[in-house]
Amino acid sequence: MDSLAAVNWPAYETEALNAVGAALSEQELDEARVKYLGRKSELAQALRGVRDRESGILLNGIRSKLEAAVAARETELTRLANEHAAEAGVDVTIPGTPIGRGRLHLLTQIRREIEDIFLGLGYEVYEGAEVSTVWENFDALNADPAHPSRSKTDTFYIDDDTVLRTQTSPDQIRAMQAKTPPIYLVSPGRCYRRDTPDATHSPTFLQVECLAVDRGITLADLQGTVLKFFRTLFGAEREVRMRTSNFPFTEPSVEFDVTCFICGGRGCPVCKHSGWIEMGGAGWVDPNVFRNVGLDPSEWQGFAFGFGIERIAMLRHGLPDLRAFWENDLRVLGQF
Ligand code: DAH
Repeated sequence: MDSLAAVNWPAYETEALNAVGAALSEQELDEARVKYLGRKSELAQALRGVRDRESGILLNGIRSKLEAAVAARETELTRLANEHAAEAGVDVTIPGTPIGRGRLHLLTQIRREIEDIFLGLGYEVYEGAEVSTVWENFDALNADPAHPSRSKTDTFYIDDDTVLRTQTSPDQIRAMQAKTPPIYLVSPGRCYRRDTPDATHSPTFLQVECLAVDRGITLADLQGTVLKFFRTLFGAEREVRMRTSNFPFTEPSVEFDVTCFICGGRGCPVCKHSGWIEMGGAGWVDPNVFRNVGLDPSEWQGFAFGFGIERIAMLRHGLPDLRAFWENDLRVLGQF
């Protein structure tokens, strides 16, 4: 009973019950609990030293009473807090404000979808570079030295030899320099042009480049690949057509149209009543481009295309204004 003698236990109990009863907050209650019931409290220490039944009954009795008092005070404090909240006009039974879940940006979703389609066709996803040499962005792509798109009013120059890529086509050059054919790749990424923003122009936008280099491939492979691409993106009923066009890095050059997936080809405002929607440029890799990267055009053939990802997103979701992608208004983006 030595350990008991040092403390006046009835007084300890009274003092503890008073402290618990006087606690006005969770914190005060916790302080009282730690002081009188915690591991370092006189009660806990005495309990650890108990060797006889009588002392055990006494001390455990005090502990039970104090624990019950703490629990009762806790319930009381919660009730008081709710009462105060109700007086202040707060209804604590109303469900809380849900925290919104994040999601991928629509353009990221579409970019990944495109990557998946081509991965499924055995292509690799190639990561090009947004900063490009003038040679990669223009010269190696067979662009006319006097072409207006090279001017400093059209293109963002970093220095005389370096630009922010104006298209994903320089990725073709980088890839062909780094790899040995056969090459089958798609390269999605950001491009830059000095355009004033409006509903259909933005100084930064996304394109996806495709490049296939192999022996014995034909323009029919290009057509089949694009058909598969558009059917997966826009529905199994789609048809494609090629129109002749002109790009420095392809010969022949074409532009692809897809049958309108809004009206099914009957004619509507989206397809400007033609039944066809313009998708973008493509073609047969120009022999000069192969020569510029040290490939023999008599041995290797290839096709390429470059399509705008915002355009695909706008068409698919009927969005009239490209700026919606950059304004990051969650009321808009949250819909996709
Ligand atoms: N780079 C072209 C542009 O930005 C698009 C393009 C056309 C890419 C034909 C190609 C292609 O790979 O073969 O307008």
